[in-house]
Formats: sequence, structure tokens, C-alpha cells
Amino acid sequence: MSTFQPIDCPPEEWESTVYAGLEALLTADDYGISQLANAASFIMDVMSDLNWAGFYIFRGGELVLGPFQGKPACTRISLNRGVCGEAARTLKPMRVGNVDLFPGHIACDAASKSELVIPLHQDGCLKGVLDLDSPILERFRHEEEIFFAKIGHLLSTLVRWEDFPGRK
Ligand code: SME
Repeated sequence: MSTFQPIDCPPEEWESTVYAGLEALLTADDYGISQLANAASFIMDVMSDLNWAGFYIFRGGELVLGPFQGKPACTRISLNRGVCGEAARTLKPMRVGNVDLFPGHIACDAASKSELVIPLHQDGCLKGVLDLDSPILERFRHEEEIFFAKIGHLLSTLVRWEDFPGRK
């Protein structure tokens, strides 16, 4: 199911359409796995030049693979590893223009060249991360990082995180 027409939209209009579209999907059901699965699919659909879009859930002190679109990926990432671990540890978005230059980058798909990771948290408590990978160097602009930080807030607020128990 694809409902989104990104053709020739000015950036602000694109952003508000994407935000509203994701909000509608997240409120259509309150089961966390369904919410994240549709969110990954939606983001993959509306963003150009991605080869992976999905979630890692914070569980048992590490990041565990959640719903995603793309090739199979590593299932567990500790907080002291990779771009995802850094975003999770610092609770700050990580925008990496060239993943080969990022010490400790975890290459799940050799095609990935740049990456944007948004931490998902509520009241300072880490819930997981949104991870976007692109086969194009410097794919993600600063403005997209700002926009996806807002998307991260939406996800943090609307996803039913209780469906992902915190222990192993
Ligand atoms: N590249 C990530 C690992 C996850 S995959 O890209 C799906 C990282 O360095 O944390």
C-alpha cells in the first residue's frame, strides 16, 4: 500500500505531508510491532535513495533488531559500537556522510555509504533508534536531520513501547 506522492513538493509541504502521513499510520493501531513495521515501510517509501530503513529496540542493555525494510541486518548492537550505539548512548542524532570514515561503523549492507540515526526516547529513557542507510555518500542534509528529529519525537510519543519489554 503506497499512498504518498512526493513529486515536485516544496520541502515544507513534503515535510508536513510526511509528518501527517506517519502520524495517521501510528494512530491507526496501538500494537507496537505493527506501528514500527508500517513506519519503516512508510519511510522507505517516501525517502529517495535509501537501502535500509528501520528500528533497533533498546532491550536488556543493548539494541536489538526491530521492524525494518532492506537486507537482513545484524541483530544486536551494544551501546559502545557503531553509529546506532553512539546515537543511543548520547541521545543525539548521528548524521554520517561517509560511513567508512566513522570509527566502529557496523557494515550490515556493504552498499551503505551514509547514515542517519535518530535516538528514540521518552523523559530521558532510551526506547530505541531509527536507522536510515543510503548507498549515496552525504545523502542526508542537515534539514533532514532536523525533520527526522521531529519524526523521532512523534515515534517516541505514539509507539506503544510497552510491547517491547525491557529485559532479555
Ligand atoms: N550501520 C549501523 C548498524 C545497523 S545497519 O546499518 C542496519 C551502525 O553502525 O550502527
